Amino acid sequence: MGYTYHLPSRRNPFGEDVIEWEQSEIIDFTEYKVTMKVLVATEKPFAKKAVDGIKGICAEAGYQVVMLEKYTDKAELLAAVEDVDAMIVRSDKVTADVLAAAKQLKIVVRAGAGYDNVDLAAASERGVVVMNTPGQNSNAVAELAIGMMIYMSRNQFTPGTGYELQGKTVGIHAYGNVGRLVGRKAKALGMNVIAYDPFVTDRALFENDGVEPVGSVDELYAASDFLSLHIPATEQTKKSIGYKLLMSMPKGATLVNTARKEVIDEAGLEAAMSERLDLKYVTDIAPNDVESMVARFGNRFFATPKKMGAETAEANINAGLAAARQIVEFFEKGITKFQVNK
Ligand code: 3PG
Repeated sequence: MGYTYHLPSRRNPFGEDVIEWEQSEIIDFTEYKVTMKVLVATEKPFAKKAVDGIKGICAEAGYQVVMLEKYTDKAELLAAVEDVDAMIVRSDKVTADVLAAAKQLKIVVRAGAGYDNVDLAAASERGVVVMNTPGQNSNAVAELAIGMMIYMSRNQFTPGTGYELQGKTVGIHAYGNVGRLVGRKAKALGMNVIAYDPFVTDRALFENDGVEPVGSVDELYAASDFLSLHIPATEQTKKSIGYKLLMSMPKGATLVNTARKEVIDEAGLEAAMSERLDLKYVTDIAPNDVESMVARFGNRFFATPKKMGAETAEANINAGLAAARQIVEFFEKGITKFQVNK
């Protein structure tokens, strides 16, 4: 027993296709010949609707789906990958030994944006294609970034006078899918939005959104009451946000991290927060030193217990179904549009 899925094309605010999920008639999966085995390995599971959608898309293509959810031991992952042709993961670590154990593997799709959890070099060496699903979970992350700004400006909902976002300046560090959505939402709240992204060379992209591009990271931090981080974790960006940038921020500034913990120089951050009693840090990715930071910085610091930026049903459905569709398109038509290890 199963479902068929229609995937009508919908466009996000940037004119990009976003998959929508819709259930229709019930069909019998057993009529399909199983040709490919797709593993969904999610330590942090998708919403049920997303899993049903993935199964539906794979079943229509005649593929078998194997689920490994909420696993706690890497050995479970190593065993599960042994005979699969494709994998869908979230932040799950697809390291060289996982790839080595996956003898039949041809494709890994990271259902989400950041692919720093996949060893791209090891995948390329084995001829395994790695893709992400850009834009599919961006709205969920952008909403959380705005929510975190409000949470911190209202003293984490503890008694005392807070302040409003309206009229404040938010700096967007990296103007990709999430950054652009944060900018739009911030504008709707009456904030002044500035941005820095060395990879966006077309000023019109900023200007069409009513956003002011600034010329350097230093300029961005020095002018931002709130700084929303959206840079990926790469060899170049790791530990790139630290003491100097934080110390340059305006009085009462808040750093909002819904990107990756690796981009923060934790020692520098802690030094800046110790010296400047007005600085705040809110993050969706707990720092290594989380307990001591809670103890030392009180209401000026908050970390979610588990990364939850993309933890919405909508984001799970969009990213999960996009991943399944990309796998089918890869096997059936050779499409590699979202490959990240070319
Ligand atoms: C991403 O890179 O897409 C986000 O960080 C979400 O990651 P998650 O799927 O692990 O929640």
